[in-house]
Amino acid sequence: MRRPILAANWKMHKTTGEAVAFAAAFVPMVVDAAGVDIAIAPPFTALDRLGRALAGSNVSLAAQNANPEQKGAFTGEIAPGMLADLGCRYAIVGHSERRSFYGESNALVANKAAALFAAGIVPIVCVGESLEEREAGRTHEVVGSQLDGSLAHVPVARAAELVVAYEPIWAIGTGRTATPEMAQEVHAFVRRRLRERFGAAGDSIRIQYGGSVKPDNVDDLMAEPDIDGALVGGASLDPAAFSRIVRFETK
Ligand code: 13P
Repeated sequence: MRRPILAANWKMHKTTGEAVAFAAAFVPMVVDAAGVDIAIAPPFTALDRLGRALAGSNVSLAAQNANPEQKGAFTGEIAPGMLADLGCRYAIVGHSERRSFYGESNALVANKAAALFAAGIVPIVCVGESLEEREAGRTHEVVGSQLDGSLAHVPVARAAELVVAYEPIWAIGTGRTATPEMAQEVHAFVRRRLRERFGAAGDSIRIQYGGSVKPDNVDDLMAEPDIDGALVGGASLDPAAFSRIVRFETK
């Protein structure tokens, strides 16, 4: 069975003080949450202090991005090894906001994912179609080519550790969630692609859903067979809301 993974993507929110206050409230709320992996991706500036606040808890530290190089003259960038040094277990790559606002290509995302694996960090590779692409019936084509391109350098021996996040762009920050059936349909497609690419390891790869996940829709999403977790933006900024998401209930 795949172990569910619930991850907070704080995007460009929270100062160090706010991050530490979140941890003080959140960690006791999830101390007995068993059988799930929990992670928080704060802004880079809060990684160190949040990591210290989470030390010894069942909540892992994650980064929102990484440079594909391990060091060098790349002003303003952060290397995977630096994230490992701060205790990051995961790093998000290929988020649609980075693809659309900063022009990140599948080739760049593939290099980032490979560099993260090399530094001992599990990449959370994001894919997802726009509303226009969905309405044109191109969801599988778009998501399929994002997967092929973004996972091009994942070592097959490490593939089972990988996390993929399906985040339909039209559902991000809009309050418009994909129905569980719509999400499952794409997750099943992603699973088939992962099996084609990685063989049996494709059954171990966790596929998160992201896009307006909230306490009141997480249970139905997590009940779907190929939805193995959630990548949560807005609702993860509040400790009580994110702890309810972590404690999803399936019948
Ligand atoms: P929201 O949960 O705010 O829709 O954001 C989803 C997301 O982009 C997580 O990476």
